[in-house]
Amino acid sequence: MCGIVGYIGNKKASSVLLKGLFDLEYRGYDSAGIKLQGEEVYKAAGPVKNLEKKLHKNSPSQVGIAHTRWATHGPPVEKNAHPHSGTKRNVWLVHNGIIENYKSIKEELEKKGCVFISDTDSEVLAQLIEVLFEESGSLEQAVRSALARVEGAYGIVVSSEKEPDVLIAARMGSPLLLGIGEGEYIVASDAAAVLKYTKDILYLEDGELAVITKDSHRVMCTNGKELQKDIVRIDHDIEVVQKDGFEHYMEKEIMEAPEVILNTIRGRILPNGEDVRLGGLEDVHEDLRDTTRIHIVGCGSAYYAGLYGKYVLEKFAGIPVDVDYASEFRYRNPVLQKGEIVLAVSQSGETADTLEAIREAKRKGILTLGVVNSVGSSIARETDAGVYNHAGPEISVASTKAFISQMVALLLIAVYIGRLRSLSKADAKEVLDEIKNLPDKISEILQTSASIKKLAEKYKDYKDFLYIGRKYNFPIALEGALKLKEVSYIHAEGYGAGEMKHGPLAMIDKNFPVLAIAPKDSVYEKMISNTEEIRSRNGKVIIVSDVSSGIGEDEILVPSTLEQTSPILNLIPLQLFAYYVSLAKGLDVDRPRNLAKSVTVE
Ligand code: G6P
Repeated sequence: MCGIVGYIGNKKASSVLLKGLFDLEYRGYDSAGIKLQGEEVYKAAGPVKNLEKKLHKNSPSQVGIAHTRWATHGPPVEKNAHPHSGTKRNVWLVHNGIIENYKSIKEELEKKGCVFISDTDSEVLAQLIEVLFEESGSLEQAVRSALARVEGAYGIVVSSEKEPDVLIAARMGSPLLLGIGEGEYIVASDAAAVLKYTKDILYLEDGELAVITKDSHRVMCTNGKELQKDIVRIDHDIEVVQKDGFEHYMEKEIMEAPEVILNTIRGRILPNGEDVRLGGLEDVHEDLRDTTRIHIVGCGSAYYAGLYGKYVLEKFAGIPVDVDYASEFRYRNPVLQKGEIVLAVSQSGETADTLEAIREAKRKGILTLGVVNSVGSSIARETDAGVYNHAGPEISVASTKAFISQMVALLLIAVYIGRLRSLSKADAKEVLDEIKNLPDKISEILQTSASIKKLAEKYKDYKDFLYIGRKYNFPIALEGALKLKEVSYIHAEGYGAGEMKHGPLAMIDKNFPVLAIAPKDSVYEKMISNTEEIRSRNGKVIIVSDVSSGIGEDEILVPSTLEQTSPILNLIPLQLFAYYVSLAKGLDVDRPRNLAKSVTVE
């Protein structure tokens, strides 16, 4: 949610900031703005390219701050674009997060003569810092005092014309890091905006503030206590986040699935083919062996991956599993007992609700694990142990390759814990052998993408869709429907096929197509009966299966696999279908309206 970049160094700040905004645009694209030291502010509603047209690119300024917005308070119009300033325009700020007590502070500042021009909560913080700066004469002191007064979440970068050689960055609940280069610093919400310039990263933690000049930095707690921080070297290249000749990131990321699975399993299946090694879980293997329950938490697609995790953990590890939306888990009173584990699934590792769910579990003394894609992210750092997906950076807002890798990682975890408990070597080997076959089988499906594209063109104008599946393929029905909603804006619902008779069947007519995921597994006959019930109500059915039943209006055939791995194959055509529907409708596939990739506010 919202992308922040700050630059101080020896290059033209405008070009570094603009590039950074393009790299962070997946975090929000409602409006964008840049403030260069010594120049007026530039702002534009809409995507970053609108800002680019306005920007004075030859400005010699070597210091500046920039922002791409996902609107929370106030509509996505120019006046609400960041950077925001105080009334005297001495202090400028970019902010990601929500200031919850902004109303009371605003009233107080208005009484002091501050004039507000936007509808945002962020402007309140800019105004407050400016007032406190006038009182104290120190930008650092002013930021610290202001942060002591605000409640809520923030990642901020602050600049001032009166201290032109300094940037101040601070974090509470919204990610922020410093890229440390030769005589330059880039502050950003995520490493994507930094890796072109440096791979040396300093991650700020909640409650930390950094004072940055072009060749030095100091990190402290917001109360002023100085801290020694480690610098982490990130080893992936920026090239891996580029489109590689594909029209959209979503297409590229779906096509990467075979390679992603290879990366997720690399070095983790032992040469005997019967055991799994997960380095990130070794220290807690006894807790895993003895645990009595696992609570999986996540949001969006990660939550559905967690649902799949429940099925395979119960099957292979024999442990009871609960799955919760992180946003529900953190606000109800989850009953967590000694010996239980909370496992967070998150691509970005920054989703506010998931992070808070983990913190809640830790407060209650519960072991926390993460299945996280983004290396060094907050959830990866705050959990006690975990497994990285190794899917590489995912840019398209709708998750595809990360979801596939989450399923594979959860399956590996299930087998790993299973082998610590009662899973036999033979049963482990059977599933591990099949995981190794998945990349080739997915490649086969990807080769049929032209026929899925044709199907998408046929169905693109329907207003409603139902996705149904059973057992291991139930979570995939939910995820398939979510993909279609996200990128095509078609109303789609996912349902357990056994639930059709309890309501959804009433909606079915010739205008309400159903996508049935029906591999030849232990519930195949039941899926076919459910499908017949739909057909006899004139419903059009698209069947995804490894066998041809001839009962669907349309059929998508995929290779056969084990029942437990079938969702990993079946999902690929559903992702392609959503992608091609969006394409056929001429929509912005990678940046669906109203959404953002990384949801760092509740
Ligand atoms: C957003 C994204 C989804 C993602 C969800 C959870 O809604 O658009 O694709 O599944 O957040 O994100 P996380 O980074 O925690 O997996």
